[in-house]
Amino acid sequence: MEAENKSEVMPMPRIGDKAPAFSAVTTQGDIHFPDQYAGSWVILFSHPADFTPVCTSEFMTFATLEEKFAEANCKLVGLSVDGLYSHIAWLRTIKEKIEYRGMKNVEVKFPLIEDITMEVAKKYGMIQPGESSTKAVRAVFVIDPKGIIRTIIYYPLSLGRNFDELYRVLVALQTADEFSVATPADWQPGDDVIVPTAGSCGVAKERMDGNEEMTCYDWFFCTKKIDKETILKSVLKK
Ligand code: BEZ
Repeated sequence: MEAENKSEVMPMPRIGDKAPAFSAVTTQGDIHFPDQYAGSWVILFSHPADFTPVCTSEFMTFATLEEKFAEANCKLVGLSVDGLYSHIAWLRTIKEKIEYRGMKNVEVKFPLIEDITMEVAKKYGMIQPGESSTKAVRAVFVIDPKGIIRTIIYYPLSLGRNFDELYRVLVALQTADEFSVATPADWQPGDDVIVPTAGSCGVAKERMDGNEEMTCYDWFFCTKKIDKETILKSVLKK
């Protein structure tokens, strides 16, 4: 009995793991994840249910921003445990009937996965029974061009996501990779970035003695400037 229960428990993917592979039916045809997305960043996100208000506001917002994410080499893939025909009907309703905060006639062009069996949702830890055992929570997985999970964010059913924050996360990850830096609290492109901590007493002394390129708050906490144009050029060239 214990073994049976254990076999149902799936480990949740973690930051740094290879994104779990799956094939699925979507509103844009079949997909094979993550291999089909090699070379692109991907945001794989789940929503609780079609024809619900928070989800509708999210899909309209994400679809409106799709081009902006695409320009940063990032593709979007949605998922809920609803079926394909429900997905199609909901996306048609959004396009034909819903006008919300200046958005109207919104066409969702990115794939929306049908996951009635919850196979994918369970693989990605999107079913969190304390919140709901029949609906996926609002999960966000940011996956890099090598298929590695780089960021995971979960929101409860009642809380719509902030898509400007998801774009900020994408740009910050790309900036960290491109310039070998970290990004401080509330960082936005153009703000100072954090250089790797001094790895020797000599470097720590040099930094504290003064360095034109850096501002040091202490030996372990130094920042430098990378202007917004440089960041955006590096993000948009991908
Ligand atoms: C919504 O998207 O509005 C929603 C979905 C499931 C539970 C609560 C809210």
